[in-house]
Amino acid sequence: MLATISLTRTPQSRLTEDLRENSPFGTNYSDHMFVADYADGKWQDPRIIPFGPMQLSPATTALHYGQSLFEGFKAHRTADSRVALFRPMANHARLNRTAARLAMPEIPEEIFREGLLELVRVDKEWTPYRDGGSLYVRPVYFGTDDSLMVRPATRYRFVIITSPGGPYFAQPIRLLAEETYVRAFPGGTGDAKTAGNYGGGLLAAKLAQAKGYHNVMWLDGKDRRFIEESGVMNIMFNINGTAITPALSGTILPGVTRDSVLTLLREMKVKLEERPVSLDEVLAAHSNATLHEAFGIGTAAIIAPIAAIGHHGKDHEIPTGSTTGLAHQLRTTLTNIQTGRVPDTHNWLLYI
Ligand code: COI
Repeated sequence: MLATISLTRTPQSRLTEDLRENSPFGTNYSDHMFVADYADGKWQDPRIIPFGPMQLSPATTALHYGQSLFEGFKAHRTADSRVALFRPMANHARLNRTAARLAMPEIPEEIFREGLLELVRVDKEWTPYRDGGSLYVRPVYFGTDDSLMVRPATRYRFVIITSPGGPYFAQPIRLLAEETYVRAFPGGTGDAKTAGNYGGGLLAAKLAQAKGYHNVMWLDGKDRRFIEESGVMNIMFNINGTAITPALSGTILPGVTRDSVLTLLREMKVKLEERPVSLDEVLAAHSNATLHEAFGIGTAAIIAPIAAIGHHGKDHEIPTGSTTGLAHQLRTTLTNIQTGRVPDTHNWLLYI
């Protein structure tokens, strides 16, 4: 049984309409955060406190040896004037799979769920009203030993912060097929949401951005032949009406939005293939005009149409903006479910 969550309210809320409605993705944070610590083999002191800096030893395990992971999901205002979280317990399950991969203790369901619900209730007013807006929820979990020994920490901290904002990408994205750096290798951490996976991707993204792309299209680590992900998102192609996405092979993050999209496509009776998909196949489909769409799939962007794939000095332009294509249909259906505009037949919403 979870110890009672203590609540220390901020003396002065920072909430303004401008912060709530106009914050770009991931730039401003609500008034409070949830914190729980693991020490002496148990979780303790679950608390909601004012959002602010944390004091950590310079020897903190997470900083040196990367025992750090995160999650992300969203809360939306719903058509009946409530606030609902989208599939947060699927993120909890993935969080614990990542924790196991990093030799970190499990976070019990009640700590995650009760801390989350209480926090979002306390800062509910930070949830944007605008279309496309959401309160992005960011759990982060890391080792806090102050020891330079390379071993799993004995102490950990779990924090949840929330951030009002809009979509991650405002326009279709341009990707560069990445042939030098790799995101993941079989047996590595590619299918876990470790902080290190994102740090390891930054240089390739930065180099691609210097060439005018938004990010890279990751290829497999062994042969640089098969497509794996789109920047920090899963990826899907519409080739001649068939939705094709790389199968979860151990090097690909099992996205919650990806899973939701697959469910919706099955219900839409769209032909769907989860299998290895090579860059050659996609470029061949582009040249014979059967590559109808490509898009990234992630929590932050939901569906991000891909406008071009750069490869060997050539940009392969892909149509975007169709209102009858899969990307548009999926985005509309998902956002309608998230905002309670259509019945939640999958039980994906958790009302606060
Ligand atoms: C997502 O959209 O699923 C992400 O993980 C992106 C986040 C790192 C901003």
